[in-house]
Amino acid sequence: MFAFEPDPNQPKAELYRELAEAARALTADEPDAVANMANLSALIWQFVPRLNWAGFYRMVDGELVLGPFQGKPACIRIPLGKGVCGAAAQTGETQLVPDVHAFPGHIACDGASQSELVVPVIRDEAVIAVIDLDSPELNRFDAEDAAGFEALAQAIAGVI
Ligand code: SME
Repeated sequence: MFAFEPDPNQPKAELYRELAEAARALTADEPDAVANMANLSALIWQFVPRLNWAGFYRMVDGELVLGPFQGKPACIRIPLGKGVCGAAAQTGETQLVPDVHAFPGHIACDGASQSELVVPVIRDEAVIAVIDLDSPELNRFDAEDAAGFEALAQAIAGVI
């Protein structure tokens, strides 16, 4: 059993430090990427408040393919350069979108999503996946959230 008890009222920097630490502990002895992404999406869901979708898209043969997640069923395949996820995968750069309706080409998987954060997971200088977070609140994510998920992406790049 894994008993993580994040405090939702702690400062974000502390929350993301704990999240990365828990992610390392959870994946340390497990080589199976699907098992690790499944547990990591559940961990994110438990730690990070005010989300309606959290999970992975994996780079498979040059396009993004849906991976383990929490939330409503989502689009399965996303071409590079399309939507927020495709932009993160193509550029290798975090995409912080305060209002998804203002993002050209945003792909609406869950109509409740208002803002989005997508962070690439990079291994050996290549994007191997993205972590996608959606919120039902406008302007939900800030630079601390982006930095926190970038640290998480680094921590897990070797185990997914
Ligand atoms: N909104 C994303 C698609 C994935 S869903 O949010 C789960 C995008 O524009 O890439």
